[in-house]
Amino acid sequence: MSHKNDRLVAIVDSNDVHRSKVSAALMSFYDTCDWGNSKEAIKGLEKSPPALILLTSYAEPFSSVGFIQAIRAHSILKNTPILYIAESETDPGIEKTKEAGANGYIAKPYPRSVLIQTISKKLNAGIEEQWEALPDIQRDALKNSVSVFREIADVLLTGETVSFADVKDNCKPLVNAIASNDFKSILDGVRNHDDYTYAHSMRVATMLSLLGHAAGFRDNEQLLLASGGLLHDVGKMKIPHNILNKPGRLTEEEFEIMKNHVPETVDYLVHAGNMPRAVMIIAEQHHEKIDGTGYPHGLKGSELNELARMAAVVDVFSALTDRRVYKPSMPATKAMSIMTEEMSGHLDQKYVEMFRGILGDASLLDPEIAEPSA
Ligand SMILES: [Fe+2]
Ligand SMILES: [Fe+2]
Repeated sequence: MSHKNDRLVAIVDSNDVHRSKVSAALMSFYDTCDWGNSKEAIKGLEKSPPALILLTSYAEPFSSVGFIQAIRAHSILKNTPILYIAESETDPGIEKTKEAGANGYIAKPYPRSVLIQTISKKLNAGIEEQWEALPDIQRDALKNSVSVFREIADVLLTGETVSFADVKDNCKPLVNAIASNDFKSILDGVRNHDDYTYAHSMRVATMLSLLGHAAGFRDNEQLLLASGGLLHDVGKMKIPHNILNKPGRLTEEEFEIMKNHVPETVDYLVHAGNMPRAVMIIAEQHHEKIDGTGYPHGLKGSELNELARMAAVVDVFSALTDRRVYKPSMPATKAMSIMTEEMSGHLDQKYVEMFRGILGDASLLDPEIAEPSA
């Protein structure tokens, strides 16, 4: 039985130089496999079906149109999205491959960001389609949050910022889902979304309002927490992909750039105007640590606002347990033990314990499944 790999992108291109360039460009975002021979590609892909195929006009022995026709007629591979990499905007292959069933194209010369964005849009369309099958509250929580998050990104193109009223309205289904204890499918629903900042922000929004719920916050206060969670990292839009998604440790210089996401977020929120103080505090202080070793201000002890302490706990938990392109997700129990032991000086342990209780009640703290003995 062959299982589709949600993160596998196949590159079919007889041009060795271009093929390895594309492969290298995608390496930190996706699993990749590449084929110089289109006939062998089909044989290989039916054994491990990819999430998407990138195809150029050089795909010997088939033509690009012939390759698409073969895929569309294939019992296992027929629904796989195919993006055509055109030689230029005037490449006649664009129309021909579209007619044959390609799902879009990218014209050379293209910047890497365009390649990645185009793939991401296609792949997430599938994940977002799965949301349609969820009950109303959860579906709305996910759909509303992703649409408001895309509006946030528009500031880069149009200069327009999202309004707090808009964010708050879009967070209402999330808070309702939490009130009725139906939030697990929301956390699952964003797990495979490959816009990492969105997926992380939505998990933080969910867990932060859960923590607020446990701490006795009222509905409208939970809305502030959810909105603050969704907005807390928006400045990451300004951080280069290669730093944001770098496997392993950042260099000192890269870390300085990464830290910049906090002032960038604050700038965005100030520019948006009318953001409640709670949202500003969550954005500004979520990387501060009780022992004063955090950033950007190095606040210490009582200088840290309660909301920031709460945000820091869920932000760290999310960062540890999120699935990233370069690491699988860490089991919740392991993340919690790191947060109590290694991070005891960083995090407010009162909220760490409260959060542990929430995870336990929701059966999200399952013991790690033991490896079967040989
Ligand atoms: Fe952050
Ligand atoms: Fe974060």
